[in-house]
Amino acid sequence: MPDSITITDNRTGESVELPIVDGGVEATEWRKLLPNIWFYDEALMTTAMTQSAITYLDGDAGILRYRGYPIEQLAEQSTYLEVAYLLLHGELPTEAQYEAWTHDITYHTYIHENVRKRFLEGFHYDAHPMGMLVSAMAALSTFYPEAKEIFDQDIRQKQIVRLIAKMPTLAAACHRFSVGMPFVYPDNTLSFAENFLSMMNKVAEPHYQADPRLSRALDLLFILHADHEQNCGTTAMRTVGSAHADPYIAASAAAAALYGPRHGGANEQVIHMLNEIGSIDNVEAFVKSVKDGSGGRLQGFGHRVYKNYDPRAKIIKQTADDVFAITGKSPLLDIALKLEDIALSDEYFTSRKLYPNVDFYSGLIYQALGFPIEMFTVLFAIPRTAGWLAHWEEQLEQDAKIARPRQLYVGVPERSYTPIATR
Ligand code: ACO
Repeated sequence: MPDSITITDNRTGESVELPIVDGGVEATEWRKLLPNIWFYDEALMTTAMTQSAITYLDGDAGILRYRGYPIEQLAEQSTYLEVAYLLLHGELPTEAQYEAWTHDITYHTYIHENVRKRFLEGFHYDAHPMGMLVSAMAALSTFYPEAKEIFDQDIRQKQIVRLIAKMPTLAAACHRFSVGMPFVYPDNTLSFAENFLSMMNKVAEPHYQADPRLSRALDLLFILHADHEQNCGTTAMRTVGSAHADPYIAASAAAAALYGPRHGGANEQVIHMLNEIGSIDNVEAFVKSVKDGSGGRLQGFGHRVYKNYDPRAKIIKQTADDVFAITGKSPLLDIALKLEDIALSDEYFTSRKLYPNVDFYSGLIYQALGFPIEMFTVLFAIPRTAGWLAHWEEQLEQDAKIARPRQLYVGVPERSYTPIATR
């Protein structure tokens, strides 16, 4: 049997045979055979918009690999900065490369004073930190106008380092402003995760040193969130990037997509849901309401691609136990565990292949680490920046065309304008 499909145009009898390569079929021949016949594919569910060598995901088997390395191995042995390097460069760094990369990131964590004083402090006192972050990322474009030179390798690398390095600083600044606390400057003696925790939590002490087990847990969460191939946010990054916008603008568009409750905003929704359920005695009634449609969706469950347990959720669940051993158990954990138990044995969820996703347990850990709920999506955006930038760079190297899908027009046909008085 040839590994190909044949498409025949029944109107003309013409046909083409298309090879199936890497599980997909090239659309070029289709376009030639059937000009102006659009492949209707709602939400691009059957369309691969790109070829990519960054992340491999098998949703049926529950497999996730960055540049070929299983997520479980990276979570256990790597660091977020090493993973960021891997995503961007395709290979794990040597010791010297890792040292130089860490140094570069550490020495680009400061933000221009005007980003904070003129821009961030202009927000309303109770602004959501994710709304502030999305805007601040775009605003960086105006502070680094050379970023527009996206085909200059040196300039491009500089912006990549800047964005990865400044995300925790911006994120912490957004949080501190939204709770009325003074800004904390980055501390170059600390690791990436430790520095973020210091900028978030430091009060009057001269040096803030987080519990190393907790900063390691945060770093691990950063690893798990660093990339996830062509999700909604990354597609936004690639779409805006395909117009050759600078990386700050493109990354802010990706972060804007992440803000949505169907995407990165789901971890916030999980906590609201668990709070609303309130007690394990109410879990069964809640599951019933999800099934009959009156209770909304079970937040943190289901995924467009995973039709199996999300491998990241498995790792996060283990990490939650380690964190709770230090911080004390969240009262919401028992509700989450019971919810998962019931859902995983209920025909409604099993038949639809709805399993816990990365957001189901991440919110509980973030809460145990002391982060307010409004910061959860921000915590997702910090590490995902590495993935967004890796895709952005890959796309530039592919010399990709501007993203411009077609539509099937279903509106009214041509009609004549009538003056307002006669309508
Ligand atoms: N709870 C209850 N039912 C659900 C859920 C859920 N969380 N998710 C999907 N379903 C049901 C749908 O009602 C539908 O049932 P039907 O066939 O009887 O109509 C079926 O499962 C398929 O659902 P779709 O909406 O078609 O699935 P889709 O792939 O479009 O949606 C999504 C994926 C958006 C993630 C969805 O599962 C969802 O809303 N989950 C809750 C929000 C969430 O956790 N999002 C985070 C995703 S991970 C991330 O972005 C980082």
